[in-house]
Amino acid sequence: MPHLDLPFDPTCCLIEGVWKKPVAQETLELINPSDGQILCNIAKGKAADIDAAVLSSQNAFDGEWGHKSAADRGRILSKLGRLVLENIDFLATLEALDVGKPLKQARADAIALARYMEFYGGAADKVHGDTIPYQDGYTVYTLREAHGVTGHIVPWNYPMQIIGRSIGAALAMGNACVLKPAEEAGLTALAFADLGIEAGLPKGALNVVPGLGPEAGAALCAHPGIHHMSFTGSVSTGRRIQAAAAQNIIPVTLELGGKSPQLVFEDADVDAALPFLVNAGIQNAGQTCSASSRILVHKSRYKEVSDRMAERYGTLVVRPAKEDGDIGPLISARQKAIVQGFLEKGSDLTLCAKGSLHPNSPEGGCYVLPHLFADVSTDHTLAQEEIFGPVQVLIPFETEAEAVAIANGTDYGLVASIWTKDGARQMRLAKKLRSGQVFINNYGAGGGVELPFGGRGLSGHGREKGFEALYGFSSLKTVASYHG
Ligand code: NAI
Ligand code: MG
Repeated sequence: MPHLDLPFDPTCCLIEGVWKKPVAQETLELINPSDGQILCNIAKGKAADIDAAVLSSQNAFDGEWGHKSAADRGRILSKLGRLVLENIDFLATLEALDVGKPLKQARADAIALARYMEFYGGAADKVHGDTIPYQDGYTVYTLREAHGVTGHIVPWNYPMQIIGRSIGAALAMGNACVLKPAEEAGLTALAFADLGIEAGLPKGALNVVPGLGPEAGAALCAHPGIHHMSFTGSVSTGRRIQAAAAQNIIPVTLELGGKSPQLVFEDADVDAALPFLVNAGIQNAGQTCSASSRILVHKSRYKEVSDRMAERYGTLVVRPAKEDGDIGPLISARQKAIVQGFLEKGSDLTLCAKGSLHPNSPEGGCYVLPHLFADVSTDHTLAQEEIFGPVQVLIPFETEAEAVAIANGTDYGLVASIWTKDGARQMRLAKKLRSGQVFINNYGAGGGVELPFGGRGLSGHGREKGFEALYGFSSLKTVASYHG
């Protein structure tokens, strides 16, 4: 096991501002997916640790944290953003080791984490209610109040970004948070919480309990002391989270990935589109909720687009995270097996192009080559299901109506993009596409701290990012005063 120089003990949970071993004193092994070796051990929290964390957060909400002014909450978040930037090399290195993402992507994630703290730090004292004209003799106004204790279960693909958007917005509104990072990658969650102490977050405002999904995760989402639950991850776990929330009748935000299309029309600027067409599919080795895995191209431009994408795929080299190439390994041997299973299901398809593996990539790493498939029919598994690996399918279309039908023809609806110079078509399709975000002549995979984000259908519900998240992380109270 390499020596990681950490300013905290990763075999501990952060509860009540103190690093504590889990009650059962157990740990999990974190694997470095670039070489398959053990990176370090991390706490394996369970229900008893979640109980302690929820109680601590409730006390924080009833106590010091809950009594802070919005401006003071904002100041702490802003300071936390500055600390993230001051520690960017450390955070990016941890994320690259833990998740396997190329260092420059890990740096971009750390910058996004800082941006979330800046954005929500600045927004904390700018969310307010309304006054409402009502009957004679009344004054009516609304208040936006924190829910109380919020639960946050995050996945392993973008730990820093997802912690930023979720915890940032929840704290800005004055909630006290219990965070359970993913068992595959939890180090930056602990590092962030450690910086939170330095930034002045009072004890219990942010508690972190690493552990397994079916243990710590299940205990958190079913806990009767939680007043709001936010989750990013798979559809199947999303269903469990929503079922648990139904028992306690609490609101839940679910972000469950997608099968996001890019639509390239006959009048598209293909030079401008090309980097987005490929990068949105292979970024983070395709393990991105908003990855663009379907490229729909008008027949008149199909050969040109597929040739040029194939050319780019030919230059893609998969290599260890520290070598900072285009694509690193997948998160785990399990995720590699899932993606290889999809590639087997695509063995009947025409392979348009694939990337290569750098010869220095260690044997035990979780590497999968990027694959681009051509002429894929819309009902094929690879055109319907989320793969969560570096795999894209090309689908030709003839008419605008056909393109819209294909784009809307999956159970998901997270992101879509349209490449066309026709302004009327841009407006028309922005309305017709069933997704939470539509990009016109660009594509944003995961970016945009300011931009509300979330899904339709199996992609989930609720909106994160931007001001919209602040509304989700608060409860509206109407006050009607009769004074005659
Ligand atoms: P997952 O949904 O099981 O894990 C995500 C988080 O949920 C982790 O923190 C995990 O500990 C937690 N969790 C798991 N079971 C739980 C339970 N019963 N109760 C409460 N929390 C629980 O996803 P997994 O297994 O890591 O990946 C499987 C597939 O999910 C991927 O291949 C991909 O298709 C999708 N996925 C989508 C993500 C997105 O960004 N939308 C992120 C991660 C995975
Ligand atoms: Mg790991």
